[in-house]
Amino acid sequence: MPTNRSDNSCANFDNGLIAIFSGVFSGVITNDLWIFNTLTLTWSLSHATNAPLPMYAYCAVTLPDGNILYIGGYSHINSILVYTSMNNLPLYNTTSNTWENMSILGPLPPFRADFPAVLSMVFNKSLNVLSIKRIIIFGGRSFGTTFGDLWIVNTTKFWWSYGNISNPIVDLTLAGHTATLVDNYMFVSFGKSFNYPYAI
Ligand SMILES: *[C@@H]1O[C@H](CO)[C@@H](O)[C@H](O)[C@H]1NC(C)=O
Ligand SMILES: *[C@@H]1O[C@H](CO)[C@@H](O)[C@H](O)[C@H]1NC(C)=O
Ligand SMILES: *[C@@H]1O[C@H](CO)[C@@H](O)[C@H](O)[C@H]1NC(C)=O
Repeated sequence: MPTNRSDNSCANFDNGLIAIFSGVFSGVITNDLWIFNTLTLTWSLSHATNAPLPMYAYCAVTLPDGNILYIGGYSHINSILVYTSMNNLPLYNTTSNTWENMSILGPLPPFRADFPAVLSMVFNKSLNVLSIKRIIIFGGRSFGTTFGDLWIVNTTKFWWSYGNISNPIVDLTLAGHTATLVDNYMFVSFGKSFNYPYAI
């Protein structure tokens, strides 16, 4: 089984498997990918080739095709903290059991960690189909700044765009929060707000 770790993001795939990549423990990070089988309750170490740098405080999202995209977070290079690039995202191909790099075009969000992501679904009433088309991320932090911005990845074109949202909670910024999609709503809960007069 994996060693103790935190600040990792888990993603489910293939009807009952959970991929758990990297994470940090006592300042040590390793780029191991573990698969937890929820049916047999067993762990296995994946030997997927081409693994990205070890990382933590990133966010993993299972795409409509079952592959898993890893966004943001930190890594260490020669003991120096570095943020993961936002335009070259690691993708775990769950079918071929290999890692790939996805380039994402468009205006780039600032580097960040400690944020959640959801995969949004669009219901097309006229065609009566559910299509899953966008990844939405909100907030996070980097270099001592906490963000309250919302960014969208178009998963058809792999393109970033800025979501110009209006928020009744003025100047809300959050890190370490969660996000859950319920119908057309992305519910954001918990976390810490450093720019707000009180912690939320
Ligand atoms: C890992 O976590 C368990 C449960 O908290 C703890 O008992 C154990 O000592 C930890 N292992 C290390 C190496 O810290
Ligand atoms: C993604 O981009 C394609 C091509 O520009 C566009 O047709 C599609 O509507 C976009 N999807 C979303 C959800 O914005
Ligand atoms: C966001 O929307 C507001 C209100 O519509 C507008 O005034 C502002 O210029 C927009 N900002 C960006 C960066 O598009």
